[in-house]
Amino acid sequence: MAAISAPRGTRDILPEESWKWSYIVQTAGETMKNFGFSEIHLPIFEHTELFSRGVGETTDIVEKEMYTFEDRGGRSITLRPEATAGVMRAAIENNLCVQGASAKLWNWGPMFRHERPQKGRYRQFYQIDAECLGISNAMADVEIISLSIEIFRRLGLKNLEVVINSVGCEKCRPVYRQKLIEYFETRKQDLCETCLARLDRNPLRILDCKKEVCGQIADGAPDIFDSLCDECREHFAEVRAGLERLGFAYTLNKRLVRGLDYYTKTAYEILSGDLGAQNAVAGGGRYDNLSSAVGGNKIPGVGFACGLDRIMLVMEEQGCSFGKMPETEVYVAALDDSARGAAQILTHELRKNKISATSDTSGKSFKAQMKNAGSCKFACIIGADELANDTVAVKNLRDSSQVSVPMNDAVSYIQKNLN
Ligand code: HAM
Repeated sequence: MAAISAPRGTRDILPEESWKWSYIVQTAGETMKNFGFSEIHLPIFEHTELFSRGVGETTDIVEKEMYTFEDRGGRSITLRPEATAGVMRAAIENNLCVQGASAKLWNWGPMFRHERPQKGRYRQFYQIDAECLGISNAMADVEIISLSIEIFRRLGLKNLEVVINSVGCEKCRPVYRQKLIEYFETRKQDLCETCLARLDRNPLRILDCKKEVCGQIADGAPDIFDSLCDECREHFAEVRAGLERLGFAYTLNKRLVRGLDYYTKTAYEILSGDLGAQNAVAGGGRYDNLSSAVGGNKIPGVGFACGLDRIMLVMEEQGCSFGKMPETEVYVAALDDSARGAAQILTHELRKNKISATSDTSGKSFKAQMKNAGSCKFACIIGADELANDTVAVKNLRDSSQVSVPMNDAVSYIQKNLN
């Protein structure tokens, strides 16, 4: 029988990588805590409607990328392609933002999109996500952007660019949308097939097309800033002023529209110069109408998500530090079979005292055991002499010095000498 491989677009995070992942998540988590965000955990699958209504029927995600299936009860279920809609659902369902209350929430975990896999783009990928719900003030947008920048600063990422835009709101966007349709109609014959299909359904997305010809056409398109209403214009000016107050450099890109329909006012991305085509390490923005789109009362929101897989790629590329790789501290070795029981007991005692310890469970020779002890700081060796005297030989594997310690003192001796 042929061996079964992992599905296309998924990958295994093996031990040599997973400790680095933990470092990234831990660093992000500490930063979130410093910014007053609480961690939440959400289902990985939701009712399909949450995404079709929340993310938007005309988005690539909903049109062609969702992992949707009917469960055994005949309900349409979707593996979450992103976290924001789920966070909003949870906030509404659990009354987190009633009577003007706000909530700052973060989460991390796998997301699923049926995209064409390439470097930095997977079908199962991981996001670290932060959402600030219940606040419509531009200060919250600034806080979200600065939170994402601070996470990357702590991780040591370099060569990043913060790109911002305003995509307007339900009042001013329809006017802009109409202007765009009228403009692109005149250049219809030159647009790529995808843009042509987007012309009536989602003309703003044409601004985002990476094809050269479409890009050139989009360069001449009407400027969104000529269509923004006073409220959106003021909001964006406040976001910019806030970023400048904190000393953050950013680029204004009026063609940044993002691939999710829920955005209103602020949209932003953080791009890396070291990722190739899939260069966004984070993306986010404001979504003041998402709550009503998924059937709740009006709860304004702003947030971002960053791609853990992409952060990892950039950090490896740039030689960033992941802290220290956790290692087992003590190896307990039995010189012969008669000492295996005692080795097992000492290993257990060390572990109960929160010292990472291991011993052989497969009947390996003493020589083979000591070979496995290689990366540990100490080896505790037990043989016939040690059994007779109720002692243990503690060998410091860094300098090869060795002392005999009463068995009862072994744990405290190791504790004292570990650091
Ligand atoms: P997004 O731009 O679709 O936004 O994704 C955010 C980040 O997730 C991207 O910048 C990228 O780093 C990573 N990412 C997306 N797709 C993939 C993929 N196929 N493979 C690897 N990494 C990927 C959102 O998902 C919004 N929910 C962000 C947000 C939160 N907006 C407001 N709050």
